[in-house]
Amino acid sequence: MLKKKIMLVAGTRPEVIKLAPVCFALRESATLEPMLLSSGQHRQMLDQAFAVFGLKPDLDLNLMQPGQTLPDLTARVITHVGAALREIKPAAILAQGDTTTVLGAALTAFYERVPFGHVEAGLRTYNFDAPWPEEMNRRLADPIAQWCFAPTEWSAGNLRAERIPAKRIHVTGNTVVDALLWVREKLGRAPRPPAEITARCGIPEDFARRYLAGAGARFVLITGHRRESFGKGFEDICQSIADLARKYPDLGLLYPVHLNPNVQEPVRRLLGNNPRVALIPPVDYEDFIWLMDRCHFVLSDSGGVQEEAPSLGKPVLVMRETTERPEGVEAGTCRLVGTNPARILAEAAVLLENPSEYAQRARLQNPYGDGTASRRIREILEQSLA
Ligand code: UD1
Ligand code: UDP
Repeated sequence: MLKKKIMLVAGTRPEVIKLAPVCFALRESATLEPMLLSSGQHRQMLDQAFAVFGLKPDLDLNLMQPGQTLPDLTARVITHVGAALREIKPAAILAQGDTTTVLGAALTAFYERVPFGHVEAGLRTYNFDAPWPEEMNRRLADPIAQWCFAPTEWSAGNLRAERIPAKRIHVTGNTVVDALLWVREKLGRAPRPPAEITARCGIPEDFARRYLAGAGARFVLITGHRRESFGKGFEDICQSIADLARKYPDLGLLYPVHLNPNVQEPVRRLLGNNPRVALIPPVDYEDFIWLMDRCHFVLSDSGGVQEEAPSLGKPVLVMRETTERPEGVEAGTCRLVGTNPARILAEAAVLLENPSEYAQRARLQNPYGDGTASRRIREILEQSLA
């Protein structure tokens, strides 16, 4: 029997991480088969993510341009995904999350009348300015979706409140948990010497020796890339990191810096000469989870990191005022701290100086799923497309 093609579109690092398990699940279907389309919204960070999972896109639109603007990128995604849909004629197209690739794919699917499935549907802040432009991307993609794969009951409730028909809403868990378990299993199966991993990440040897090895060594893992923080927000974030380095001489600050030039410029300018802060290139998913497992806590504005942290038992200070992922905050793992240096320093002090509060917030929990989200997505598609 000829299998029906399910096109999976990914454009950025988190989309690959969260669609890889869906791709693996679809490969096991008797009736469906995955076809991987890369928009290439990211380049190096996308290739890095594909490589960890041993995946290679069937078609790569290679759309990234240095310093790309949102309107230009959106237009290119629509034009090129449209051409791919007309040529390949899949039975359905799936996209994950809230990026320009997702919005472009959803709109194109609507125009080409190809059924669209949204993985990680229903996340909301109900504030179009934060996350910007992602909140709008999700709000526009969900009504187009024939299948809204909501990670939690809360996100499903948001969709119902927006009058998305109930039969389109499926609570599956978040596929990020599937990815995390997959990567941890890989790490466990073939453990590598720590020195090899830290060297591969570009962590200076003396920093690794001092803050990643030995009894009592502590480091904070940092990521940041939100557009609404560009400018003053990033200056404040860098100030907080410098303040933390000054106040805690025994604490390492490890920052894999996102490749967006609006991030690179302030971070390199304000922290580049700080001997206490290690600025390294983005690391691959496997290494990032290895680092997350070993850090004391995470300072981040990332969506995916907020979801991974409860399953790893790592507190996160979320450098945002609002989140579309309240489950991690309710679990106590994540705390919204904004970008104000005084507030970040005060919240970091709690995690560094109060062991009982730390233990409370470092409890293992899984509000985002049990590792079966991708299999559920496959089963729903199989039934629906039979
Ligand atoms: C994008 C998504 C954001 C997501 C993030 C994940 C949008 C609007 N933004 O933000 O939702 O959380 O990815 O990381 O969809 N660049 C490189 N190499 C890379 C990646 C980026 O050089 O591998 C540089 C390029 O100059 C590029 C710029 O970063 O033009 C911005 O990339 P873009 O995908 O537009 O935005 P991100 O900030 O990465
Ligand atoms: N991540 C990674 N390498 C890094 C930083 C993050 O692999 O150097 C992973 C992280 O574990 C998470 C995902 O990338 O799964 C988050 O991506 P990002 O913060 O870029 O996007 P967001 O989740 O905010 O959309």
